[in-house]
Amino acid sequence: MDPMRNVLADWTKDVPESEIRRLLKSKTKYYLAGGLPGILPTKVFPKILQELSEYYDSNEQNVINEFQYGQTAGDPGLRKVLAERIHKNDRINCINGSEDWEKVFISTGSQQAIYISLDIVINPGDLVVTPSPAYLGFVTAVVKVGGHVVTAPTDSEGLIPDYVEDTIIKAEKEFGKKVKILYVVEDSDNPTGTTLPLKRRQQLYDIAEEHDVIVICDAAYKEMQFGDKIPSMKTFDKENNRVIYASTTSKEAAPLRIGYTLMPDILFAEAEKAKGYLDLCTPTLTQRVAEIYYRKYINQYLPKIVKEYKENKDIAYKALLDTFPEGDFANPTGGFFIWWQPKGEKAFTFDVANFNDKVLLPNEVLVVPGKAFYPPKGHSYDPEAREIEPLKVIRGGMRIGYSFVSKELIDEGVRRLGKLLSEQIEFS
Ligand SMILES: Cc1ncc(COP(=O)(O)O)c(C=O)c1O
Repeated sequence: MDPMRNVLADWTKDVPESEIRRLLKSKTKYYLAGGLPGILPTKVFPKILQELSEYYDSNEQNVINEFQYGQTAGDPGLRKVLAERIHKNDRINCINGSEDWEKVFISTGSQQAIYISLDIVINPGDLVVTPSPAYLGFVTAVVKVGGHVVTAPTDSEGLIPDYVEDTIIKAEKEFGKKVKILYVVEDSDNPTGTTLPLKRRQQLYDIAEEHDVIVICDAAYKEMQFGDKIPSMKTFDKENNRVIYASTTSKEAAPLRIGYTLMPDILFAEAEKAKGYLDLCTPTLTQRVAEIYYRKYINQYLPKIVKEYKENKDIAYKALLDTFPEGDFANPTGGFFIWWQPKGEKAFTFDVANFNDKVLLPNEVLVVPGKAFYPPKGHSYDPEAREIEPLKVIRGGMRIGYSFVSKELIDEGVRRLGKLLSEQIEFS
């Protein structure tokens, strides 16, 4: 054993390397494993930097003061613009426009805000209910901070409220600990592509109230909706004391790496403290670029970007309908992903990780296997027995990304995948 392993903290042994980071190292023609945004307003950023350059030239003294270390919770200018956008677009009641800017917490990507939220709420062994499957950057972060994940079943509309309530009740009984957090991606989930209908949002909010659970509402794909947006669970949280609403600029403006979150006041103060230890502040230069982008340009660029993603999705979905064997999947109403899994027991027995390595890779195709969307340890709620059981992984599921490669490659790649899958699944 490498003697340096003794130096490492225990969590490093509990949390494996991310499957996606591993897959990123494999280069294939039909790379359907990625979740990177492939359509970005690239031309606008140099334009904004040019504007800033002119500002620099004529305001040398101000520049020293303005482009310093900034406030840990973010620069007021950007927070005002985002507060206004959250008020107008997301129609969230606890924020009335730019005057409520101090409620907006800026982070370096929303991943940082999500991690901080866990860090300030979770004590070792505290329970966190997540969908099955769920965004890997969340479930592994729960394990990293010592939390205990219990997964709840999902269907083509996301989390099923009745089961979520039973998961909370049974998990608290089984482990003698409190469920502190319920994690939800309401709009175009990663990895399942599902969108929660309004009724389920209301039901889940009511369940969280009833059982005194904090909801982390991860709004990563809310700007990437192909049609009308459904009001967030945060809109029910009129007093701002139940829901952490984590948004990001990353899907529509990736190079900025800026997240923006609303959270209950008591959490905000602690989050600011925790962020101080992580980065002191998010870079002021990128915050200024983001402020200009969201104030002047986003409405001009975003509709075109969303339209392109919808076209990508339509191509991927049609190719899937034409070529895939029988399975469960949803037609995404936004976002970057389609999830497919075989019906019945094969959802748990077919091994997509193996299929990826042995069959897809030699054929220049790659997807993300279902097992990547589970924590390294935890439990699951079994909807048939209505009991908590050891972690049950939908290893037969796969995430198919349509955000990054060209339309032509999406079409060919998904068709090739469907053909290989149809051949393979019969004998699995
Ligand atoms: C569901 C979800 N939440 C959060 C994040 C992290 O976003 P950011 O890039 O802003 O850190 C991602 C990124 O892939 C995501 O898919």
